Amino acid sequence: MAFIFASCLGLLSLFFQCFYVIHIYSESYLPPDFNNNQTAFLQYLASENLSLRLPALYVFGDSYIDAGNNNFLDTIAKANFLPYGIDFGGVPTGRATNGRTVVDFIAQVAGLPFPPPMLGLSETERKIFVSGVNYGSGSSGILPLPPPAVEIFGHILSFDEQIELLNDTTRSLKGHFDSPESFSLYLSKSLFFIHIGTNDLGIYWDLEQKRKFRTAEDYALFLSEELSGRLEAIYQLGARKFLVNNVSPLGCQPFNLNTKMHNTSCVEDVNQRIAFYNGLLPNLLTKLETSLKGSTFVLCDLYKVFEDVYTQPAAYGFTNVNGSCCIDEARNGTRGCARNVAPCADRTSHVFFDPFHPTESFHFIWMRRFLKDHSVCSPFTLFELMQL
Ligand SMILES: *[C@@H]1O[C@H](CO)[C@@H](O)[C@H](O)[C@H]1NC(C)=O
Ligand SMILES: *[C@@H]1O[C@H](CO)[C@@H](O)[C@H](O)[C@H]1NC(C)=O
Ligand SMILES: *[C@@H]1O[C@H](CO)[C@@H](O)[C@H](O)[C@H]1NC(C)=O
Ligand SMILES: *[C@@H]1O[C@H](CO)[C@@H](O)[C@H](O)[C@H]1NC(C)=O
Ligand SMILES: *[C@@H]1O[C@H](CO)[C@@H](O)[C@H](O)[C@H]1NC(C)=O
Ligand SMILES: *[C@@H]1O[C@H](CO)[C@@H](O)[C@H](O)[C@H]1NC(C)=O
Repeated sequence: MAFIFASCLGLLSLFFQCFYVIHIYSESYLPPDFNNNQTAFLQYLASENLSLRLPALYVFGDSYIDAGNNNFLDTIAKANFLPYGIDFGGVPTGRATNGRTVVDFIAQVAGLPFPPPMLGLSETERKIFVSGVNYGSGSSGILPLPPPAVEIFGHILSFDEQIELLNDTTRSLKGHFDSPESFSLYLSKSLFFIHIGTNDLGIYWDLEQKRKFRTAEDYALFLSEELSGRLEAIYQLGARKFLVNNVSPLGCQPFNLNTKMHNTSCVEDVNQRIAFYNGLLPNLLTKLETSLKGSTFVLCDLYKVFEDVYTQPAAYGFTNVNGSCCIDEARNGTRGCARNVAPCADRTSHVFFDPFHPTESFHFIWMRRFLKDHSVCSPFTLFELMQL
């Protein structure tokens, strides 16, 4: 009897051990709870011993990271209705996904508030809000919107306007610091996160640039030079720590799969165009770092994060890599989500939430790979950059 009891316990503990292992394995790529504090978040990432003292997170770019700036603008490029935000406490904010973005996750890791959209801050708030803001704007690119895109989208914040707003921020915040030196130190320790170029290589090319440039290589070269000038402008305003994302394989995005001819699992000429551009970034950032004193430019390979997910979707918890989770008006995966129509139930197993934008689950993997993975971020990981 005692023996049976003992072996039962043995079995039981084996069962729990197995369950524990399986649990950890299958959950590790799922986003942690929305309300987790920094301690719990770092524990979840098995990084509880890191001491992070990042003062602020400033964000530039397009709809992948816009947290609501477009809500304040005369544009159709808005995501301020359900099902967007269904996993953000059920609150649509302007984020073009079901839950948090990569930027929100970085903020949680750093113990900072989610960087709020700049255009939502009052004049008073702009003078005292020191943990960083988000200038991102859906449909923006390195270049201003070309005229045919202005006709479609209306007014969004171009990269130049986003930089102009950083200029405003530095003027408003200066008075909050004891001395110009302490303000410079604060800016130099802050992280500047940049996700831009997607629309230049996607819709801007389709709508206009392919008629203006002889080849996709010429365009890529032009874009990279335009990016360089704008990164330098951000540096001139006091930024020192840059994290620059390359452009993801848009040829594998549901929108492109549903609108363009393809004979493989992705639209190869779209990815080829992006590869030309991405190929120019390592040298470009090295050059900038050499010429701009005290700067650090980390290049992170978002393209590879997507590729790795496509190579082994199950290892990252995905069963659907090429379809939209939400349903669009036309029901053919060519538009953003239709208002108030329930999306798929298994959101954590989809890479894409709408035909253009990844799910919260992908955003979490995006952050997670950047944090510690030297094969994705170079010359520093995100964790290392945060601690510089
Ligand atoms: C953070 O969350 C953990 C786990 O829920 C809790 O034990 C801890 O007290 C919290 N810490 C703070 C500073 O709120
Ligand atoms: C954190 O530090 C404690 C005490 O030194 C150690 O036991 C633990 O394994 C460390 N955790 C990690 C994830 O490194
Ligand atoms: C910031 O604004 C000032 C005043 O308008 C202007 O002179 C300066 O060129 C701007 N700097 C950048 C980098 O845009
Ligand atoms: C696939 O499509 C590309 C252009 O869309 C074409 O160049 C190539 O020959 C096609 N390959 C096959 C195997 O049909
Ligand atoms: C998505 O992937 C599935 C499975 O590989 C495939 O059957 C389907 O045709 C793909 N859909 C599109 C739009 O490419
Ligand atoms: C999707 O549906 C819309 C509305 O019916 C139609 O105008 C469009 O051509 C369709 N696109 C594709 C690629 O089927």
